[in-house]
Amino acid sequence: TAALGMVAATTFAAAPSAASSAASSSVSTAPGFRPGAPGVGDPYFPLEGNGGYDAQHYTLDLAYDPATKVLKGTVHMLARATQDLSRFDLDFQQLTVRSVTVNGRPAAYTRDGQELVVTPRSGLRMNSLFDVGVTYGGIPQPLGGPIVFGLPYGWIATDDGVLVACEPNAASTWFPSNDHPSDKATYSIVVTVPKGLVAAANGVLAAQVTRGDTTTFWWNELRPMASYLVTTTIGKFDVQVGKTPAGLREWVATDPTVPGTEVVFQQTAAITDYWSELFGRYPFEETGAIVDNVPVVGFSLENQTKPLYSAVRSETTVAHELSHQWFGDSVSVRTWQHIWLNEGFATFAQRYWTEHIGGESVQAWFDRQYATRPDAFWTIKVADPQRDTMFDTAVYNRGGMTLQALRVKIGDEPFFRLLRTWAADHRYGLADTDQFITLAEKISGQDLTDFFNVWLYTPSKPVTW
Ligand code: ARG
Ligand code: ZN
Repeated sequence: TAALGMVAATTFAAAPSAASSAASSSVSTAPGFRPGAPGVGDPYFPLEGNGGYDAQHYTLDLAYDPATKVLKGTVHMLARATQDLSRFDLDFQQLTVRSVTVNGRPAAYTRDGQELVVTPRSGLRMNSLFDVGVTYGGIPQPLGGPIVFGLPYGWIATDDGVLVACEPNAASTWFPSNDHPSDKATYSIVVTVPKGLVAAANGVLAAQVTRGDTTTFWWNELRPMASYLVTTTIGKFDVQVGKTPAGLREWVATDPTVPGTEVVFQQTAAITDYWSELFGRYPFEETGAIVDNVPVVGFSLENQTKPLYSAVRSETTVAHELSHQWFGDSVSVRTWQHIWLNEGFATFAQRYWTEHIGGESVQAWFDRQYATRPDAFWTIKVADPQRDTMFDTAVYNRGGMTLQALRVKIGDEPFFRLLRTWAADHRYGLADTDQFITLAEKISGQDLTDFFNVWLYTPSKPVTW
């Protein structure tokens, strides 16, 4: 292992084959120790996440300078080995790795596409806790492509900072992680930016310290969080801190160049409190919002505790993103095919809010969808929409219609008890469509096999249900 360590310390500029052979010699010297898988087996994203360990806590220590667009950082991941590990992967792409350590000692590493392959000096025993440190730097680029309709997503540089919205797979463009919702972890996020800028991240702001011409923001998210929900959105922001009427902490940052944002604090407060009544206790320590002026970004994202709104924002969007704190952020998809458990639920909630404030009823919305959606809309299988159509309108709207149809079928009281039980049973955890169907049947006392087959798995317009 001593020889391996020397390889490790100098592998940075070496050819990939050098470290790969180091890795295989480690396997041969430690019987039973084998590499972790390069993915968790999500059919839509075979390389997202990794096998062999379970991430517990990340510490992100980052510095960003909008003038150069360079991000520099050191990330530590505390993880537990779930097998005897000879080596393991992190998901990390684009940026330049300077060094990797495991339990404080230099480790060998190679890059292979979006995989950062790490070989520790000696094998990691099943169930042992280990710390991985990665020091890196570079200029992160957003992702694009069909998943989010060709729009850029991920790390999106702005004039005065950056907007960070990573669903489903862009976390790996700016920090190394086990980048799949099935491995949630807690986070400390420490971000240093030029003085005068704000760095907004998830959880609670523990400290804000200005030294010389930089300010460091120290955030803690101590509830489990999926990597795609991590943000460090930076820019000139007005910050408003306070509490909702029900007494929950609230932190809101608004870009002063976006008109009409003075209502965001009150909207966020009222909607968070209302959802807490309807869906059960708010799952996190603080609610909030970030409103940034980035017209190129045509979406909002339910980043945990800090939903991110691009300039395009409405009260019902706030209702949508805040409902995701229960459905998506606290209860997370086991694999991405179950995305309707996020988007269908948030769409239902959004329409419920519209009705609540005196607009169109959910049923009238349902009827309108049913009457006007063209054939193409009905061809998506909501509970298995396929990767490039995972954010198709049908996942949102037919998903939401599924819940409204279910509500009518089983009645309001059981329906809302179902939503509350769902949020409580899987709080901070993972869930899938079968589990929802099972719970719906249990709570309603009805056989709902045909109902869910028609609504979730049949690629045509439901006729009877
Ligand atoms: N989950 C978002 C919503 O609330 C959609 C995000 C799509 N992904 C992305 N990177 N824009 O509707
Ligand atoms: Zn959504």
